[in-house]
Amino acid sequence: MAISTISEIGTHEGQSVTIRGWLYNLRESGKLLFPQFRDGSGIIQGVVPKNAVPPEVFDAIKGLTQESSVIVEGKVRADKRAPGGYELDVSNVHVLQRVPESDPYPITPKDHGTDFLMEHRHLWVRSQRQASILRVRAEIIRAARDFFDSNGFTLTDPPIITPAACEGTTTLFPVDYFDEQAYLTQSGQLYIEATAMALGKVYSFGPTFRAEKSKTRRHLTEFWMVEPEIAYATLDDLMLLAENFLTFIVKRVLERRRADLATIGRDLTKLEKIETPFPRITYDEAVAKLQEGHAQGKLEHKFEYGGDLGSPDETYLSSLYDRPLMVHRYPAAVKAFYMEPDPQRPDLALCVDVLAPEGYGEIIGGSQRSANYDLLVQRIKEHNLPEEAFKWYLDLRKYGSVPHSGFGMGIERAVAWLCGLEHVRETIPFPRMLYRLYP
Ligand code: 4AD
Ligand code: MG
Repeated sequence: MAISTISEIGTHEGQSVTIRGWLYNLRESGKLLFPQFRDGSGIIQGVVPKNAVPPEVFDAIKGLTQESSVIVEGKVRADKRAPGGYELDVSNVHVLQRVPESDPYPITPKDHGTDFLMEHRHLWVRSQRQASILRVRAEIIRAARDFFDSNGFTLTDPPIITPAACEGTTTLFPVDYFDEQAYLTQSGQLYIEATAMALGKVYSFGPTFRAEKSKTRRHLTEFWMVEPEIAYATLDDLMLLAENFLTFIVKRVLERRRADLATIGRDLTKLEKIETPFPRITYDEAVAKLQEGHAQGKLEHKFEYGGDLGSPDETYLSSLYDRPLMVHRYPAAVKAFYMEPDPQRPDLALCVDVLAPEGYGEIIGGSQRSANYDLLVQRIKEHNLPEEAFKWYLDLRKYGSVPHSGFGMGIERAVAWLCGLEHVRETIPFPRMLYRLYP
């Protein structure tokens, strides 16, 4: 008998198949049992009439507990009313492990609090909604890779254990590296600047770490970042790349993960509006809009020129558009040490943040990189960074320095936006946050 996944069961219509999974739910009405099975690819309802199966099969399913593991045989029957289009007329069942009644599966269809679910994250991932989110995450990652792989970028993997900061010293996780002080990487950027000088167009994709003390719905301490870096690219080139990249990902997810987005309950019309070009405004223009919003009573606090945008500011700005908003040229003082100053206004950095619509905030941060040796040395000093650790990085400005640019997109922020999730904790299988190290 053929083994089938539930998602492909339609190819076996009218035939008998074996499916291997878990009991998701069971409805009983007298002499008729309606077990629902799940196998990770989908859910199917089985039908078990008492008079149509051997008594031991009926007895094995009757009273079977949620999440017991089962191998089921049955005949596939098309049924228009069934969610997946098919039902299974069960003929045999083998229970591998029966979850005991005395210690039942802790997650039931009733509403559980978030803390409880987070404590049981290892089981929570079995729920339909969580499984769909993880499928969308995988699709976003695959789309990101496909985009760069098919546009002339070479994947180069930066190290995870590093001797110095990339995005500021306040959020470094220390690592005891034999006799030396090391840190978990905050971004692969500095290293892919080196590989970009070797290969032209490169990208990295890997875990990054920030010892964020902030407890917000957008921050994880461990997250995954995809970062392109391109020799000879300017800020304008980078903004073009960012909008093409995001549009590609959104279209791919709409194309391939519609059913999952429906399970999650995502409003697809919002995603269908994502087209290039994205609006571009300068930091100065953003500040004007924020102050106007405050004057109109739409934004509680008055934004002071010169500061970085906070979450409420980003939320307000992005609510003015139905596409991602690109805010460029922030004051250099609030940004990282490596950014190239705007030649017209050296107090500004040639950088861009892409803010997702619907209040999801910054999903991409990037910039043109400082190409000048002396300026970079000065910036490293101003930021109190250890010069010794950046010697190799400064070499890139000594031997054939060129303008170059890159950005980083946090996968979890992208998942939160595309799935329409309140909090990034549901966007990664096992989130790491300020007060969350278990499971
Ligand atoms: O803006 P960030 O800090 O930029 C960099 O790290 C650059 N070195 C990237 C580059 O130019 N190659 O981070 C980039 C993105 C953010 O826009 C956000 O999507 C995500 O990474 N991110 C986080 N996601 C989850 N939790 C956190 N604590 C995050 N910090 C940044
Ligand atoms: Mg940023």
